[in-house]
Amino acid sequence: MKNAIVTGAGGGIGACITELAVNLGYRVAAIDVQPGSVNELADRLDNVIPLIADITNPESVKETFDAFGSVPDLLVNNAGLVRFGPLEDLAVQDFQDVVNVNLVGSFIVAKEAAARMKTAGSGAIVNITSMGGIHPAPGSGAYGATKSGLAQMTQLMSVEWGPYGIRVNAVAPGFIDAGMSAPFFKDKAVRRQRGGGVPLRRLGTAEDVAKAVMFLASDDAAYISGQEIVIDGGVINSVLAQLPREQQAGQ
Ligand SMILES: NC(=O)c1ccc[n+]([C@@H]2O[C@H](COP(=O)([O-])OP(=O)(O)OC[C@H]3O[C@@H](n4cnc5c(N)ncnc54)[C@H](O)[C@@H]3O)[C@@H](O)[C@H]2O)c1
Repeated sequence: MKNAIVTGAGGGIGACITELAVNLGYRVAAIDVQPGSVNELADRLDNVIPLIADITNPESVKETFDAFGSVPDLLVNNAGLVRFGPLEDLAVQDFQDVVNVNLVGSFIVAKEAAARMKTAGSGAIVNITSMGGIHPAPGSGAYGATKSGLAQMTQLMSVEWGPYGIRVNAVAPGFIDAGMSAPFFKDKAVRRQRGGGVPLRRLGTAEDVAKAVMFLASDDAAYISGQEIVIDGGVINSVLAQLPREQQAGQ
């Protein structure tokens, strides 16, 4: 049986990744700073070990890996935080909190996992970035900067850890009707407007993201490293299609 570690496993996307990993035969350490949802996940699914840790705390992360015991075949760096507000009003503490979880925390967990994967001579790491790290989303504070930073860190990790047999990739979700975005998409008008603007004409699901993660974890992706796959139904390529323009003949 393979072993996986999923951070932020109590959230919408993390819980879905955990469930798919279990269905694919993994034993999963479901890490979250909030105990409630990972404990529920472990009650519902076999082979889920709920572990409570703050990924910004290196000692707490090390203890969690020790408690899990096994060398992870897969790490999914999924825990994430957003603090909304226009930059001119954004509190420095909010900026720092988001950097600390999304960027520093992801580094702390990846470093711990890579040290163990190195002893095994193999492993896969998937960092969850965001469409917001590729195009700036007004009002999303430090979030996009941390996600583009994590995408760059993914490339560096792939270069430094490739020689140890460790592949490192990223998955960048777009408009996903789960987790931190679910509250916005409860509003029917927002769903219609956002979903309707997507070339595939729908919002994404947590399953859409989880399937891409587990593809990158699989042997089918054995020669893929340092890449970021965008799971957005085509949104980021549709900037020109969204701009108003005069109708031309044949259109
Ligand atoms: N939902 C979306 O539309 C969307 C879009 C793009 C990217 N993402 C990314 O997907 C990932 C999962 O997000 P989600 O939508 O499921 O959100 P979510 O808020 O439901 O899940 C995030 C989880 O991370 C946990 N977490 C936060 N800080 C932590 C810490 N210090 N230590 C341990 N755990 C911590 C939270 O408790 C929560 O359970 C995030 O990295 C997010 O940035 C989500």
